Amino acid sequence: MSEAPVLVFDSGIGGLSVLREARVIMPGRRFVYVADDAGFPYGRWDEEALRDRIVDLFAGLIDRHRPALAMIACNTASTIVMPALRAAYPGIPFVGTVPAIKPAAERTRSGLISVLATPGTVKRQYTRDLIRDYAGKVHVRLVGSENLAGLAETYMRKGFVDEAAVEAEIAPCFVSHEGRQTDIVVLACTHFPFLVNRMRKMAPWPVDWIDPAEAIARRALTIVETLPGGEALPDTKDSVVFTSGKPDANVLRLMHGFGLTAG
Ligand code: DGL
Repeated sequence: MSEAPVLVFDSGIGGLSVLREARVIMPGRRFVYVADDAGFPYGRWDEEALRDRIVDLFAGLIDRHRPALAMIACNTASTIVMPALRAAYPGIPFVGTVPAIKPAAERTRSGLISVLATPGTVKRQYTRDLIRDYAGKVHVRLVGSENLAGLAETYMRKGFVDEAAVEAEIAPCFVSHEGRQTDIVVLACTHFPFLVNRMRKMAPWPVDWIDPAEAIARRALTIVETLPGGEALPDTKDSVVFTSGKPDANVLRLMHGFGLTAG
């Protein structure tokens, strides 16, 4: 019997930025990638409806894939759904993705950081609590971008992105105050690392862009290592599931490029 997989869940292609780190850190592990493309974009959902949707989806996913662990590779979901998932499925370890506000607050030299996220993540009490608990001494600008996740989807599927649109979405992250400037932008949506080179190009000045994917993958590894079994099987294939059931040819090609076959 094949080893239980690690399930990586997002609303679309964003979780691939976490999957690529997870594969480096957990070589030989089998992964099932789940794109809730029928629910994309999560940034615009009402909190309660999104929480219920994800908890319901996991009933079928757990039943079908029997994962060893599930990574919620989405900030917009993780900031509301983790307690509900853990309560509903106590037998599965869940690893979430939350805005990297703490490391940014520890690293900033100017004392000005920005958190670039979906409108949903920016609104969350969870995000506000992180700022209160870990970034009390720095100035945090929260930027809820309406369009960046969609731009990242287009870029990854079609290889094209409107740079002026990226520039407009990131512009509010750049703050100048009393001779100091923003020096760190937290990428608090897993879609955004795919656009980071364009963001660098369109930024008014250089900043450090924090992508938490590696930290999330390391957290998952520490849990996977404690689980029984889990021998690496070199021939197992990673797969992808789309909740729409009908991904377009571009997205299938993209998934294929990531070594994922529709399952
Ligand atoms: N990738 C998701 C995140 O990390 C959100 C994208 C969306 O569905 O709006 O927040």
